[in-house]
Amino acid sequence: MRHLLSTADLSVDEATELLDEAERFEQALTGREVRKLPTLRGRTVMTVFYENSTRTRVSFEVAGKWMSADVINVSASSSSVGKGESLRDTVKTLHAAGADALIVRHPASGAAHQIAEWTATESGGPAVINAGDGMHEHPTQALLDALTLRQRLGSLQGRRIAIVGDILHSRVARSNAHLLSTLGAEVVLVAPQTLLPVGVEQWPVLVSHDLDAELAAVDAVMMLRVQAERMTGGFFPSAREYSVRFGLNERRMGLLADDAVVLHPGPMLRGMEIGYSVADSPRATVLEQVRNGVHVRMAVLFRLLVGTDSSGAQ
Ligand code: CP
Repeated sequence: MRHLLSTADLSVDEATELLDEAERFEQALTGREVRKLPTLRGRTVMTVFYENSTRTRVSFEVAGKWMSADVINVSASSSSVGKGESLRDTVKTLHAAGADALIVRHPASGAAHQIAEWTATESGGPAVINAGDGMHEHPTQALLDALTLRQRLGSLQGRRIAIVGDILHSRVARSNAHLLSTLGAEVVLVAPQTLLPVGVEQWPVLVSHDLDAELAAVDAVMMLRVQAERMTGGFFPSAREYSVRFGLNERRMGLLADDAVVLHPGPMLRGMEIGYSVADSPRATVLEQVRNGVHVRMAVLFRLLVGTDSSGAQ
């Protein structure tokens, strides 16, 4: 693997190896007073974020620091992007300044692929990690979701997982649809027709518009954030209608099987997509997802920068 741009590119073996690697890093750090491994000493990792983030940016920074990499954070608002510098010039500048890995979040779908092309050199160029590109993909989010599901449910083979809500604008939904089906799960998207993307019939999923009808049969339900900032046109449900038809409230929790779990990538809009008490329920994995995000990002950085598995390197 040279880059991590899309979960659609991952084979079942590659995805499973990344999840196993993340668990190795978790075990290597468990019980340590000083959480510092030497594995990426001398490597320089740069996060380049053109959109807001808490979880993804922070967990990449923690992951890099726990592996002794030098981590530089570049935000569009405080860089020369504000003076009009292009994305191409910015990423080529960061590569020239010594980046071994560029972790990129950008509002344009396809930005990470484009950056991998722009920065490629004869000797390889930096590893590019897609930390969210527009409405397209967010592969490390899907990997941390898959790890969380694997830890809660065991194998994903034959498990039924509902992804609910604003699928149209969700890079999380697309990355999870591909990855979870690669890992053997049956994915059902639950959304109003106006919040489903054109071409969804090409995705490896089932589609439903009735959340109540789906809940009893699923092993997990993944709620999505409503991305109001991307709803610039079209006929979208009001906040009230969305909450009534697609919100996971206390009553709907009662329709789930006793051992079914609830995921949310965050940030959550409590009271709209997910009830206050549902988000804090022991069946909700929100903070486990965040913790797993650090280990998954350690695994991805290690695989891309070192190229082997980490057994013996810790
Ligand atoms: N889940 C996620 O990508 O969160 P952030 O936008 O806070 O990084």
